Amino acid sequence: MQVRPFLFSAADYQTYAAVRQAAHPESPPDLAGLQHLDRTRTQGDVLARFVVEVAGEAVGVLEYATPYYDPRPGVLEVQYYLHPHHQALEGPLWQFLQGRIAPHQPHALQTTVREDWPQYRFLTAQGFVEVERRWDSVLDLAHFDPSPLARPLPPGLTIQPLSALPWQEEAFQRDLYALEIELLGDVPTAEPITPWPFEVWQERSLKGPNLLPEGFFVALEGTHLVGLTMLFKSHRPQTLQTGLTGVRRSHRRRGLALALKLRAAEFARVYGARYIRTSNHQINRPMLAINEALGFVKEPARVLLRLSPVPLKPGQPAFGGSSDPQP
Ligand SMILES: CC(C)(COP(=O)(O)OP(=O)(O)OC[C@H]1O[C@@H](n2cnc3c(N)ncnc32)[C@H](O)[C@@H]1OP(=O)(O)O)[C@@H](O)C(=O)NCCC(=O)NCCS
Repeated sequence: MQVRPFLFSAADYQTYAAVRQAAHPESPPDLAGLQHLDRTRTQGDVLARFVVEVAGEAVGVLEYATPYYDPRPGVLEVQYYLHPHHQALEGPLWQFLQGRIAPHQPHALQTTVREDWPQYRFLTAQGFVEVERRWDSVLDLAHFDPSPLARPLPPGLTIQPLSALPWQEEAFQRDLYALEIELLGDVPTAEPITPWPFEVWQERSLKGPNLLPEGFFVALEGTHLVGLTMLFKSHRPQTLQTGLTGVRRSHRRRGLALALKLRAAEFARVYGARYIRTSNHQINRPMLAINEALGFVKEPARVLLRLSPVPLKPGQPAFGGSSDPQP
């Protein structure tokens, strides 16, 4: 086995995609999203990615980085994907990783893996413990009938797509950002979410390759933003991906979230998508109730695992390599 730095070249992104596809065909990689993520890393972020080769052939990828979502000081996110025929490399790669992360002195490592992936078994055997679980779920629009759920909007409220709103103006963006921050604070999670600063959010959310202003819906009372749901383009065929859905506390239990989701589903149908995907924390009963009523079907859970303290291997990395390339 050889481990070499990932070059952040077009060829290496293709290598990454091929390995990831072989490792988890049910969960294809979002290459455009990954490249955008890599490009929008902020100063001070750690990002080290490697390609694992056997007999000159790429059979795995491995990385450690500042968590993209929810960055916390001292926490590094680790991820690896191995071709199923080379799963036995997990042990040596774990040794490699411990050597490499030692200079960063992280107080915790974390990763998100599906409960049915081999990584779950291996990492829990190394002492990683579950922090929380999310369900990805899918709505098949070919079998979706919205009519039993449709209700008139509460008086005084409207739903509009971002494309009909001044979303490129900073004043509007600041209102939207404030709404998202407020709603993120209300998402029931095991730990509070650390939001991105405004400028990072602008770059990542509003300039992301998957933004679809026509499929991003905002609920308004006059000009006051009170709720939202958002569909993004997806790398999966015939699919749109849901981002955050939320309604301000002052406006809950009036059918607004359901109305937003129905409006988004109608958009998806007209857009020509067959599937809508979403992801929800297992403790988010209110949101799960809405998605269950709509007919979303759950997949195996994705589990956030954490290891703390981190057993660091002092000394040199187990495998060669000097300074690593950056995106
Ligand atoms: C989840 C959330 C968006 C629901 O918004 P809402 O506008 O209050 O939801 P609706 O009024 O459309 O609810 C529709 C149905 O969902 C179910 N529901 C909604 N909130 C519920 C709750 N707190 N507990 C149980 N069921 C709930 C009910 O069946 C409800 O119908 P009913 O009011 O006739 O009983 C809102 O609670 C919220 O913003 N939460 C914080 C952000 C969040 O967690 N977003 C999801 C992250 S992916």
